[in-house]
Amino acid sequence: MAENGKLHIVMFPWLAFGHMIPYLELTKLIAQKGHKISFVSTPRNIDRLPKLPPNLSPFIDFVKLPLPHIENLPENAEATIDVPYDKVKYLKTAYDGLKEPMTQFLKNSSPDWVFYDFVPYWLGSIAVELNVSSTFFSIFTAAFLGFTGPVAVLKGTEDARTKPDDYTVPPKWVPFETTVAFRLFEIMRIFDSVTGDEDNIADSYRLGATIESCDVLTVRSCSDFEPEWLKVVEEIHGKPAIPVGQLPTTAFDGSDDDKDDEWRGMKDWLDKQVKGSVVYVAFGSEAKPSQAELTEIALGLELSGLPFFWVLRKQRGSADTELIKLPEGFEERTKGRGWVCTSWAPQLKILSHDSVGGFLTHSGWSSVVEAIQFERALILLTFLADQGLNARLLEEKNGAYSIPRNYTDGSFTRNSVAESLSLVMLEEEGKIYREKVKELKELFGDRDRQEGYVDNLLDYLQSHRRHKTKDQGN
Ligand SMILES: *[C@@H]1O[C@H](CO)[C@@H](O)[C@H](O)[C@H]1NC(C)=O
Ligand SMILES: *[C@@H]1O[C@H](CO)[C@@H](O)[C@H](O)[C@H]1NC(C)=O
Repeated sequence: MAENGKLHIVMFPWLAFGHMIPYLELTKLIAQKGHKISFVSTPRNIDRLPKLPPNLSPFIDFVKLPLPHIENLPENAEATIDVPYDKVKYLKTAYDGLKEPMTQFLKNSSPDWVFYDFVPYWLGSIAVELNVSSTFFSIFTAAFLGFTGPVAVLKGTEDARTKPDDYTVPPKWVPFETTVAFRLFEIMRIFDSVTGDEDNIADSYRLGATIESCDVLTVRSCSDFEPEWLKVVEEIHGKPAIPVGQLPTTAFDGSDDDKDDEWRGMKDWLDKQVKGSVVYVAFGSEAKPSQAELTEIALGLELSGLPFFWVLRKQRGSADTELIKLPEGFEERTKGRGWVCTSWAPQLKILSHDSVGGFLTHSGWSSVVEAIQFERALILLTFLADQGLNARLLEEKNGAYSIPRNYTDGSFTRNSVAESLSLVMLEEEGKIYREKVKELKELFGDRDRQEGYVDNLLDYLQSHRRHKTKDQGN
């Protein structure tokens, strides 16, 4: 343990920016209280993280563990953003190769706590051996954890879910009525990774083993938003599930000086638009629409007549050979009214601009939190991972509207895109979505509330350490 009763905490997120960024936000909030954090990832990921405010740097050590090279994983791929979806499983295998160096690191640094993600299912038992207290820090919502269920189900020893249909109904351990379940097309798109194959361990097994061996669960959640789900999680796991707040992204000004020119052009355009009129369109760092989907989204935007700012990923890493392209003539026809950006874009700055009124998003939780932070109405189009369950949770609470789609294959039309956008952005019937985000902002974006969650978490971490030093007197 560090001096003065301060803790030393290790953070070990999965190699996806949707995981690393909330881990980094929690790191910053804990460092602000004077505790020491070791943030562990691979070299290229650490180099790509946003810069820290200088006052926090003394409390945060970035620890670079080189990613073992394995066959089938493209050169230099260190995060999900660097590889097409079907290669993510190799990234997981390479990550499992960090078991030895991670064990060594924990042994040498003997921290008080380790916060780890669902992929390194082997870490919990190592922590137990080394007398290090451990928590599975879930960047997934409590609803996601409640839906995915008890350890026995996840590990497949009891009531195992074996068919896609098993994921489309609310599970029996949820004692209230809910719509939170996958649509068939949503689970079909990730079924191989959830259930595993000869090349990789099932995500559901990883999650089960992770939860089984941790001392306590910490969840990116707040008790005013999904208390019913936090209760389910504690009940099915027989362990505390501590909400740590929604961790809204905090940008450090000066973190992207070199990108100022690009932003200036975007800002000039946004400045010319009517307040609250622009739809911001972005599907996160991983989701890449298929060609058919891209065409319908584009033509839907065109049909809606609304101004839009679209950040479009045409490729997932340089190994991705399936480039997608905009419909013929689209850019000329929407010139002036729309901005399509195929490279880097500062999402927070765009979302915080007054001209933006709504956000068409994949429903990744970080994007949802960012939209709510700036009171932007949410229109959802899910692609992968936990996004379907996030969408159901938000729909249930009237916090967002999902574009209607075919239940079986997920297809949707340009008309449904245009109608959904106009409903949420303009129409009287869609007012509920515009109003609800204002309410949710109080729960998600309030700094004092967020501080309260962190104080509560730190109290717990300090009083429940496995390994207690002599100077503590106990
Ligand atoms: C862990 O703690 C227990 C009980 O305090 C002690 O007996 C054991 O030697 C410790 N193990 C290590 C590896 O420090
Ligand atoms: C939905 O998609 C399935 C599979 O492609 C198709 O058979 C079905 O007719 C579609 N349903 C509707 C209502 O379009």
